[in-house]
Amino acid sequence: MAIYLTGSEQATIEFAKKYAATLSGGDVVLLEGGLGAGKTTFCKGIAQGLGIKDEILSPTYAYMNDYDGKLYHYDCYRLKNGAEAEKLGLTDYFQGTGVCVIEWSENIADVLPENCKKVTIRKISPSNREIICE
Ligand SMILES: Nc1ncnc2c1ncn2[C@@H]1O[C@H](COP(=O)(O)OP(=O)(O)OP(=O)(O)O)[C@@H](O)[C@H]1O
Ligand SMILES: [Mg+2]
Repeated sequence: MAIYLTGSEQATIEFAKKYAATLSGGDVVLLEGGLGAGKTTFCKGIAQGLGIKDEILSPTYAYMNDYDGKLYHYDCYRLKNGAEAEKLGLTDYFQGTGVCVIEWSENIADVLPENCKKVTIRKISPSNREIICE
C-alpha cells in the first residue's frame, strides 16, 4: 500500500499516468471515493498513460465506455446489484485483454473478480486529494 497527495486536478492526472504503467491487460481497478473525489479524473490519467487519445467522459448514462478494447471505464452508480450488471453484459470484459476501471464498484460487489486492484481517493480540501493505492 502507498499513499500519495495531489494538489490539483492536473497533478492527479499526472500521477494516474504513472500508475497506468503498473497495469497490464486483464487488470480490474476499483476506484473508490465519494462524489467528486476525483475518480473520473484519475481514469483520465490512466487513459493517457495507456496511450488513449479519446477524451474520457463520465459513463454515467452508458454504465461503461469502451476505449478501443484497451480500457473499459465503468460507472456503476446507478446499478442496483451484480445481477443487473451481468444482464447488461457488463461483466463480460472482466476476463478480457483490456484494463477495466470501475467507479462505484461497491454496487456490483457480488460479481467482481478476485484480485482487483484498489485506488481510494479522499478529498481533504477543495484542491487536495489523498490517493491510496493497494
Ligand atoms: N487534486 C485533485 N485531484 C482530482 N480532482 C480534483 C483535485 N482538486 C480538485 N479537483 C476537482 O474535483 C473534481 C473531481 O471530479 P471527478 O468527476 O473526477 O470526480 P468523481 O469521483 O468521478 O465523481 P462522481 O462520483 O460524481 O463520478 C473535478 O471538478 C476536479 O477539477
Ligand atoms: Mg466519476
